[in-house]
Amino acid sequence: MKVILCTHNSGGVGKTTLAVHLAGYLSEWGEVLLVDCDEQADSWKFFMEKEPGVPVDQGSARGIEVIANPERRSLKKLKVKPNQFDFIVIDIDTVLENTVQVILNAHPDLIFIPLNRSHMYKSIDNLASVLEMVGGIDGNPALPYSVVIVPLGIDKENIERELERIEYHSEQYLVADSMEDLSTTMDKVIYKDRKYIWDCVGLEHNKNYFKYLAFNTSC
Ligand SMILES: Nc1ncnc2c1ncn2[C@@H]1O[C@H](COP(=O)(O)OP(=O)(O)OP(=O)(O)O)[C@@H](O)[C@H]1O
Ligand SMILES: [Mg+2]
Repeated sequence: MKVILCTHNSGGVGKTTLAVHLAGYLSEWGEVLLVDCDEQADSWKFFMEKEPGVPVDQGSARGIEVIANPERRSLKKLKVKPNQFDFIVIDIDTVLENTVQVILNAHPDLIFIPLNRSHMYKSIDNLASVLEMVGGIDGNPALPYSVVIVPLGIDKENIERELERIEYHSEQYLVADSMEDLSTTMDKVIYKDRKYIWDCVGLEHNKNYFKYLAFNTSC
């Protein structure tokens, strides 16, 4: 079981974009559970095409088990067995107070922090606090997981400069290669068409980007 977090404390920066595409890509490789911890339930709605019931809802679509879990209830109490999945992808806006351990009773293996073009300044400005939050998942200075900053339509160099400026030990973090700038298209495919970006004519090559994120970015 590999636990993958898509997180940032800022809104609108690409958490759901990463979560739905990683879940979709990984479903070709094994059993996937997607846990949507956001009250807006955008990842849930992408797959289930309806509002979730409250307080928790479970369903499956396109070969993926999806849970809307805004209250971050433990999977054990929901009678979900994490071990039956090869990949657990979590769409979450914070990892404070050991939320992930509470939900899962397990560490994440891989943390993706997205930054997109339309919120470039806000998301870069908040990068230090996100990295602090991620570093504080269990207070362990030698991070037991890989942290990957994902530039969506932004030059990688912008982020590397900011990491230097805030004096973060960049060897603890990887800045992934940039995904091409797809601002409007991505918005439409996720929130209107509800399909994967690689299922759009002419954009099939973007599947390779998620392959790269999933399998080639772990430190
Ligand atoms: N490759 C890309 N290039 C440029 N912009 C992108 C790219 N991928 C995603 N985005 C932009 O990011 C926007 C917000 O994405 P998303 O909804 O995934 O963010 P979020 O962090 O989940 O937001 P929220 O906090 O509301 O849950 C999308 O509407 C899209 O315009
Ligand atoms: Mg979201």
